[in-house]
Amino acid sequence: MNILGIDTSCDETAASIVKDGKVILSNIVSSQVDIHKKYGGIVPELASRSHIESIIPVIDEALMVSGVMLKDISAIAVTNGPGLIGSLLVGVSVAKALSYAAGIPLVAINHLEGHIASLLPEYDIEFPFVALVVSGGHTNLYYTSDIGDYRELGVTRDDAAGEAYDKVAKMLGLGYPGGPILDRLAQEGNPDAISFPRATVLDGMDFSFSGLKTAVMNYLKTVNSEQWTVNKSLIKDIAASFQEAVVDVLISRLIEASRLTQVERIAITGGVAANTTLRKKAEEYAASEGLMLYIPSPHLCTDNAAMIAVAGYHYFKKNLYSDLTLNAIAYLPLGSVS
Ligand code: KG4
Ligand code: ZN
Repeated sequence: MNILGIDTSCDETAASIVKDGKVILSNIVSSQVDIHKKYGGIVPELASRSHIESIIPVIDEALMVSGVMLKDISAIAVTNGPGLIGSLLVGVSVAKALSYAAGIPLVAINHLEGHIASLLPEYDIEFPFVALVVSGGHTNLYYTSDIGDYRELGVTRDDAAGEAYDKVAKMLGLGYPGGPILDRLAQEGNPDAISFPRATVLDGMDFSFSGLKTAVMNYLKTVNSEQWTVNKSLIKDIAASFQEAVVDVLISRLIEASRLTQVERIAITGGVAANTTLRKKAEEYAASEGLMLYIPSPHLCTDNAAMIAVAGYHYFKKNLYSDLTLNAIAYLPLGSVS
């Protein structure tokens, strides 16, 4: 059974064909980084225009690479939220048109659930598990009982972790997106050089990263800007110390959530899950706590449509279709709140 996945929630135009919810036959991602980087962040109007130009060629390529004909597609799974509304609308409109014209069932997928489903091509993970979705727009913890059954355990109260990466990189004049750039620099820096705060929200399992971002900004005011633009070792130390603070908070919350829910399977997904230090430290902590850790390969952590097709397969099997009234929704929470 082949599912066509489509995701245009942010700044990547993505289409993928996945067989039986597991085997990725094609996974095409057209990045808009070159369009947005000169503005230091995503410009929503430019993003939606670029999606319009790219979406049909990207779907064509996904079909061509997979060797699957449109007539052999069982369902079209599309992200209908959360995300940038103009961007989401492009994917949803194309998916509806294709569904109508070719007579293929349509399935709506929440982008966050797509990130959770990104675990399934590489792992036979048993339910339930605790999933951390950590991306440019979200830092959310879920008790996951099944694909389609989630209980929210915690969310960020301000910036997402990826957003903090992007903003700190911008302060340092390093470009966009900040995560991979800071990750690279941090590998050569000293994580103990600067003591940045680890914010702990005391009631519940929420996160907060805006204080850390402000702490980096305040630190930069104490050093001469010449110093960190010229002194590469200082920039590496700032990157490593910032990263250490982010990673510490993410891992300690995830382990706390596993203790609280008494679930020994933990997962990290979303763009920030591609982070080298987060992956390494999570492995160390999981081993010392006796937990089973699941993190997708980096190309499945960042936005892609294979994860949408995988989630779509599980909806399709349960006959959970959408009709042509499907709409894009910018703010679309996932699951119930505990
Ligand atoms: O999941 P994603 O591709 O898109 C959203 O749904 O937001 O995540 C993008 C975020 C960006 O903030 C980017 O800076 C961050 O993931 N990111 C990373 C790394 N690769 C991407 N953050 C830290 N380290 C990385 N290696
Ligand atoms: Zn994402």
